Amino acid sequence: MNKQNEEAARLETMRAAVSDLYDRNRQRGHAAWCDRDYDFVCPSMTTYPFQWFWDSCFHAIVLSHLDPVRAESELTCLLANQQPDGLIPHVTFWQREAFEERLADYSIAYRTPYFSDCMQPPLLAEAIAAVAARGRGEAFLREVLPAARRYFDWLHDVRDPDDDGLVAVLQADETGLDESPKFDDYLGVSGDNRPDYDAAWHRVADPYAEVGRDPALMFALDRFIDEDVMVNTIYAENQRVLGDLLAHVGDAAGAADFAARADRTRQALVAKCWDPDASLFWDLAGLAERPLRTSTFTSLLPLLLPELPKQIANRLIDQVEDPSAYGTPWPIPTVSRREPAFQPGAIGEHLLWRGASWVNVNWFLCRGLRRHGRTDFARRIEDSTATMIERWGFREYYNTLTGEGHGAPDFSWTALILDLLETRPAEE
Ligand code: GLC
Repeated sequence: MNKQNEEAARLETMRAAVSDLYDRNRQRGHAAWCDRDYDFVCPSMTTYPFQWFWDSCFHAIVLSHLDPVRAESELTCLLANQQPDGLIPHVTFWQREAFEERLADYSIAYRTPYFSDCMQPPLLAEAIAAVAARGRGEAFLREVLPAARRYFDWLHDVRDPDDDGLVAVLQADETGLDESPKFDDYLGVSGDNRPDYDAAWHRVADPYAEVGRDPALMFALDRFIDEDVMVNTIYAENQRVLGDLLAHVGDAAGAADFAARADRTRQALVAKCWDPDASLFWDLAGLAERPLRTSTFTSLLPLLLPELPKQIANRLIDQVEDPSAYGTPWPIPTVSRREPAFQPGAIGEHLLWRGASWVNVNWFLCRGLRRHGRTDFARRIEDSTATMIERWGFREYYNTLTGEGHGAPDFSWTALILDLLETRPAEE
């Protein structure tokens, strides 16, 4: 077989495997508590049977290649529970009653028994764009854009109180990167011990509960405020995409507004988070905006932004290639090898985001590499990612030194490999 035929065969096998996975993880039914039908893909039946926000955005992108009807329902289920203030909760417990015993393990702040009171990385516009492009186009956009806009307005109005263009999270799990070592000092945890995290959770969440989880009062407490580089990269990119989608439906004023908001966020990232000496971006913590100087993949993620200045993009790419930083045998580690906290694979108590490889990270990175002219490098990462999945199945994360799969089995966003393989040109 020549190379192109081999790639086409690999893609077909992957499509079939993803389609089976998404049938196994499909959650369908009627929720009596809100009198609505639901139909979505859960992250993993073993550990995460509910609907998570950024997971669902990833799942919708994958489904856009397989089944436009299910891709739409993944998003309309997510939007169905938008709150009156505009928040789309990071978890919706549609089928809560069937899984009560699981919930005992979750440290989650609730708005009601059926919703969390948290955000997650705001990937919504990219998910809508993918579903519209391969589905009903403008008709779908007209149905969902008002809700998306309300959500981005909520982020802008509620989560950027210092009005610098960067949104802040108020708990570590709002970043989607629960136990990243970049938070160790700030949270006061040693990073190798689950009970430490439970205590840290209470140090943040209990005072929030005392002020009624009113965001302005939560900010004033200054317990955990993180202007996170990954969250804000996704925020910038999704405001840009939302602007494009609004232009597509003829809303020129909305389009201009979101394009300007996206520019502002990107410029704030460069002005406030870029450290030219370290060649990395740092999160800003607390009202004092103290940089969190631990090198994790989030420090590289602004590479996703097409308008990132070339010299910054090149310095980030150097880090990804450097074998003593992010150039591990299996791509890419979520923590730099230079960090003492780096752990290549599974950690005893299922602590996440401390050095293993995650497919959503590779998905962001490969798209960024392509946007900055490194299709060769993107291809290598895509191929290695596909190989890890072929060898070990759709796992939650993989060992960056051996490629071995770990964490939740049948993990749905790992199927993002399909989007990478489907969208790359056959010849480059
Ligand atoms: C873990 C991850 C988070 C994800 C959730 C469901 O908590 O850290 O990012 O959304 O699992 O997969």
